[in-house]
Amino acid sequence: MFKHEWLETNVGLLLVFTMLAISVGGLVEIAPLFFINNTVEKVDGVRPYTPLESRGRDIFVREGCYLCHSQMIRPFRDEQLRYGHYSLAAESKYDHPFQWGSKRTGPDLARVGKKYSNEWQVAHLMDPKSMVPESVMPRFPWLLTTPLDTSDLKDRLMAQRAVGVPYSANQAEYERNVKEFGPETAEMLKIDDAQKNLLKQAQEGNYDGDRTNVTEMDALVAYLQVLGTMVDFSKYDDDNFVKYR
Ligand code: HEC
Repeated sequence: MFKHEWLETNVGLLLVFTMLAISVGGLVEIAPLFFINNTVEKVDGVRPYTPLESRGRDIFVREGCYLCHSQMIRPFRDEQLRYGHYSLAAESKYDHPFQWGSKRTGPDLARVGKKYSNEWQVAHLMDPKSMVPESVMPRFPWLLTTPLDTSDLKDRLMAQRAVGVPYSANQAEYERNVKEFGPETAEMLKIDDAQKNLLKQAQEGNYDGDRTNVTEMDALVAYLQVLGTMVDFSKYDDDNFVKYR
């Protein structure tokens, strides 16, 4: 009979089996990348974040929200009942770095967009216990009083562009975006107009309830409100996506 002990006391053999185990694990991780174009579902509606949402995402990362919140609904029945349709690869294809997370002290946020009003989000971030008395989420009151720093906005978007997010830096890229996302979204993705578009969205959206200035709260709430809202699942059959799993 083959005994584990035999493997453990034979260094050469242990090495061979260890290498074998690591190679299988490595292959399972690497092989799907060669088929990435088939793995990312073809769905309408997914677009890069607007400049304001993108800054909100930076704040989400800075404040460590991902340490308590995942953004990946797994394809299990209980998760879909609680959070909605499981997350698609397409939905985080413009996320660098992705925010899937690995810890859920709080609920998954992949589809939290439009679940609550802006007012609820602001009140909750100011003092979570005011909305959910048993909450253990910390308060983030400085977001409402800190003006949003947009001095390096262009650089940030250029960095995203460098890793493949289609923000446009010239006319040809802009036209490509018009074709892919339509004129309205393409306008939002122009790096040269980012500052102007950010202010406009913050004004119109009035995310933090104060139109006179743009705070970090404006950006973070704009980001939270778009999470999971890009794909309209009512357009697809119930089992449309199963073939991808
Ligand atoms: C220490 C862990 C922790 C951190 C850090 C944290 N949260 Fe939470 N969060 C929770 C818990 C627990 C809940 C559930 C109770 C509640 O609603 O307050 C929650 C709930 C939420 C909800 C409501 C979700 C829903 O579907 O009801 C949102 C939105 C949210 N958090 C956003 C954030 C954002 C944005 C940050 C970063 C600025 C953040 N959280 C940081 C623990 C955390």
